[in-house]
Amino acid sequence: MSSKTVILVGGPSKGTRFRPLSLDIPKLLFPIAGKPMIYHHIEAAAKVPEMKEIILIGFFKETVLRKFIEETSKQLNISIRYINEDKVLGTAGGLFSFREQILEGSPKNIFVLHSDICCAFPLKDLLDFHNQHGRICTIMGTEIESKYANQYGCLVRDEKTAELLHYAEKPETFVSNLINCGVYVFSPQFFDVMGKTMVDLRTSGQNINTDYPEITRKGFDSERLRLEQDIFVPLAGTGTISVFPYIGFWRQIKNAGASVYCQELYLNHYAKTKPEVLKKADNIIGNVIIDPTASVDPTALIGPDVYIGPNVKIGKGVRIIHSIVLDQTEIKDHACVIYSIIGWQSLVGVWARIEGIPNYTPFLYSQDKRKGVTIFGSGAQANGEIIVSNCIVMPHKQLDRNYNNEIIL
Ligand code: GTP
Repeated sequence: MSSKTVILVGGPSKGTRFRPLSLDIPKLLFPIAGKPMIYHHIEAAAKVPEMKEIILIGFFKETVLRKFIEETSKQLNISIRYINEDKVLGTAGGLFSFREQILEGSPKNIFVLHSDICCAFPLKDLLDFHNQHGRICTIMGTEIESKYANQYGCLVRDEKTAELLHYAEKPETFVSNLINCGVYVFSPQFFDVMGKTMVDLRTSGQNINTDYPEITRKGFDSERLRLEQDIFVPLAGTGTISVFPYIGFWRQIKNAGASVYCQELYLNHYAKTKPEVLKKADNIIGNVIIDPTASVDPTALIGPDVYIGPNVKIGKGVRIIHSIVLDQTEIKDHACVIYSIIGWQSLVGVWARIEGIPNYTPFLYSQDKRKGVTIFGSGAQANGEIIVSNCIVMPHKQLDRNYNNEIIL
């Protein structure tokens, strides 16, 4: 039973919440637990037996993804291909427009994954469930605290049959605390259903993608199609869709700060599934990944939940907790980095303290401006002995005094 996977990667216009890090790298390639965001998806997909191909659909320039695709394809020994949408087609428009390429070779199952999520990707379990229930689409759902549910696609399912009875995208009133994870499996027939839905929409003329108003053509766009509102909503309750209940970690990665929390989830997962990638040493606490090319002074104390990238230099007596330190950065002696992302080629001076204020509100649109991960854009520099707390620092800024709760432009 061969399969393919499609990952919806969107495009650059969606990267604004990821600034300043998306100024250097597209959001989907930002390292989380030491691997580009969508590497986790691809790694899971590549493990599914008879996975024939992984297709990324988006509206990035092909050159932006080429190196990542070549390297990952080689590393995981799986065919990966990028298909560029010339214009924004929505979460189902690309799937439908490129259906011939997706269905080439007659795969029996097509996994579809959102790129901006982190979870354990239990794709084999999802597929077994899909086959067991015999419908042409299965959505992975997870339960969250009711008060956050209205930020997501909410699912009502028949407890006995697992059928999706009702779908509401970001509803104004409470519908269900079972939400859409952005992980699906389709049977090929689902593409016919999409086609029919498109015809229906063409008749009613309603599918304008409000996520990209700046690029949306005025009025009806005949190719744009949203999987959630245009397909799942009308198909709920028609016997077409099942809901697979996933119990495990899941989170959206909508902004840069979320990477720190998602990294923690992936590192916990690694501790159970591939502990060999975690560094063990006397000066390491909890789950930590250190690139082999990084140099870390033995008197520095690192962890828990830290990633240290290639060619990073960590001085004497440094303390790093819950943070991501990217390539070629130097953290000088006795500096302290907590709940922070230190961008590429940055510098943190001696005895400096760079800290974020953790905010474990799970869904990251917290209005509390006093809390957040501190982020240094690439090449930012903090002088010695200063405190930078809950700040976003634009690339190449030189900080020479204390800062608190600021965006430093
Ligand atoms: P927001 O909360 O508004 O961000 O919405 P959401 O969480 O429902 O996510 P959204 O529907 O915007 O995107 C879900 C996934 O599909 C993400 O991985 C996006 O990158 C991707 N995506 C969204 N729109 C498009 C599109 O037009 N084309 C492609 N190829 N991918 C898309």
